[in-house]
Amino acid sequence: MNIAAIAEQLAHVGYIVLDKPLLDNLSALLFARCHDDEHQKFHAAQIGRGPAKQQIETIRGDVISWLDAGDSTDNAYLSWMESLRAGLNAALYLGLFDYECHYAIYGAGAAYARHSDVLSGKRNRILSTVFYLNEDWQASDGGELVLFKPDGDTVIAKVSPTFGKMIIFLSESFPHQVLAAHNNRRSIAGWFRVRDLN
Ligand code: OGA
Ligand code: MN
Repeated sequence: MNIAAIAEQLAHVGYIVLDKPLLDNLSALLFARCHDDEHQKFHAAQIGRGPAKQQIETIRGDVISWLDAGDSTDNAYLSWMESLRAGLNAALYLGLFDYECHYAIYGAGAAYARHSDVLSGKRNRILSTVFYLNEDWQASDGGELVLFKPDGDTVIAKVSPTFGKMIIFLSESFPHQVLAAHNNRRSIAGWFRVRDLN
């Protein structure tokens, strides 16, 4: 992975799509982990935090499971992200402090309406990452991530969630949405954060 090149594009464009940054073997293990077969491992995603926490399936239809550093596969992904965090800090002085991420499964028909990853009242998410785990994904399967300009209306990118692809973008700059998928859509969504600013 050429972190300098990633940093350069994030600084100038604000987002980057990487074709297959991880080894296929690790991606395959992550895919195996991203299944809702263990009792209660995945749960419906929620929107907002604290008292404002609510579950609104029409806004967000995925089920999620946070990665577990005690699992060797999850740990390998977290370690890779840790190298990226350190490299981006060295290149861009972002002061990224930690990284949190969860597996997400969107069943057929599930989507995520246009939103910003910066939680209301909190500004500690700096970079968003999504890593896709869908083998043989066809254009007709839908499920694209649509990235909008900061103004919220102009589409700047549509990313098909194909196996091994990763997108990284500035959390505060790009509203985005997930279009309905017609098959199970698997991914790992995560955020590099700075220490709480408030
Ligand atoms: C999210 C999100 C995008 C995607 O989880 O906040 O926007 O492509 N995910 O899965
Ligand atoms: Mn998001």
